[in-house]
Amino acid sequence: MITGIKGMNDILPEEIPAWHFIEARMREVFHAFGFSEIRVPIVEKTELFHRSIGEETDIVEKEMYTFADRNGHSLTLRPEGTASVMRACIEHSLHVKTPVSKLYYVGPMFRYERPQKGRYRQFHQIGAEFIGEASPMADAQLLHMLTCYFRALGIPDVSLQINSLGCRHCRPAYRAALVEFITGHLDALCDDCRRRSTGNPLRVLDCKVEGCRTVCQDAPSVLDYLCPECAAHFDEVRHLLTALNIPFEVNNRMVRGLDYYCRTTFEMVTNRLGAQSAVAAGGRYDGLIASLGGPELPGIGFAIGMERLSLMMGTENIPAPHPDLFLVALGPMARERAFLMLADFQRRGLYAEMDFSGKSMKAQMRQADHLKARLALIMGDDELAENRIQLRHMDSGEQESLPIEGLDALLEERLAQKKD
Ligand code: HAM
Repeated sequence: MITGIKGMNDILPEEIPAWHFIEARMREVFHAFGFSEIRVPIVEKTELFHRSIGEETDIVEKEMYTFADRNGHSLTLRPEGTASVMRACIEHSLHVKTPVSKLYYVGPMFRYERPQKGRYRQFHQIGAEFIGEASPMADAQLLHMLTCYFRALGIPDVSLQINSLGCRHCRPAYRAALVEFITGHLDALCDDCRRRSTGNPLRVLDCKVEGCRTVCQDAPSVLDYLCPECAAHFDEVRHLLTALNIPFEVNNRMVRGLDYYCRTTFEMVTNRLGAQSAVAAGGRYDGLIASLGGPELPGIGFAIGMERLSLMMGTENIPAPHPDLFLVALGPMARERAFLMLADFQRRGLYAEMDFSGKSMKAQMRQADHLKARLALIMGDDELAENRIQLRHMDSGEQESLPIEGLDALLEERLAQKKD
């Protein structure tokens, strides 16, 4: 037997109603905030991720699925969506058509991580990018959209943590202070952090190793190093979130695993998923578009892990669709007549089912019951000869005899009654 690849999961039919629910609420909420969908390829030139996510990040150093195509060009399965969306914006000059672009996307991402609950090698993200607006109102609106979405999904136990990472003017001073602090505690840090201490010192703050966490408690806070503009931006974001009644917590130890962030960063965290606490994450990336060869445009966005959402929601709570009608037929003539009626119902968009294998009447009724059909249409050769048909209301067990002439209108009436 050939099995699937470790960390890359099938999403089975019984799980799909939850995924459809997640996507339907996404479209409702995101459209209300004026976001439009964009679809970008799953594979990009490797260089795009090196330049955007950063050479010294875990993703680029050890998690990308990179391969040479038949021409020897280095391609990568996208580990996230922001870089591709920025590339598409630049390539199609979206900013010329509309100075502000509000875009969302949904699809698979690929990272060679150690699989465990909530962490996979192929996973799915819902992402949103608000491009071309530097105002803190954009930050607050994006976070409002995210919280509205969680409310629409009925997910309670998540909390919003925010931080500011400063900008290219104030970050160097913080970085220097952090490197100085880390250098004084090198002996107490894990091997990874010792290596990161010069290349990507901010990542040390994010290390899960107990010794490193203890050391980091006394590390300087990025918020003490913000320049006046970044401090004012962060103050205004906090003010607007409070005015919008969005609860949040400031976490000055929160850094992100991608290098393109500046100013506001945030995570939606839960304690319901074990070690994988972030269900959604994102932040501002004002220099990213210019660094990819585009215009100087600001941007802010987030991505939500769909597997983590569905784990939190419990797939069993989302009902699967049930047939409107199940056709029960006895006798060869009735079976063919039922088959043609079935085709007619389906052509008209009704969800109808029947058995093709010649089961007994009892077995067909059991199947109708198992599928939770709303109505069963029962027909035998004798009844058809009299141009009549039996209709059974599956929940009450009530049965009535209906003429085949004008049956469609009668069924529509019965189905409408059931919906009320
Ligand atoms: P990220 O923090 O790398 O950010 O990922 C966002 C979310 O994707 C995580 O919070 C998590 O829910 C989910 N996720 C990440 N890796 C995995 C995995 N291996 N298995 C399952 N779920 C996972 C980004 O990707 C940025 N592009 C977000 C962003 C958009 N920033 C600005 N715009």
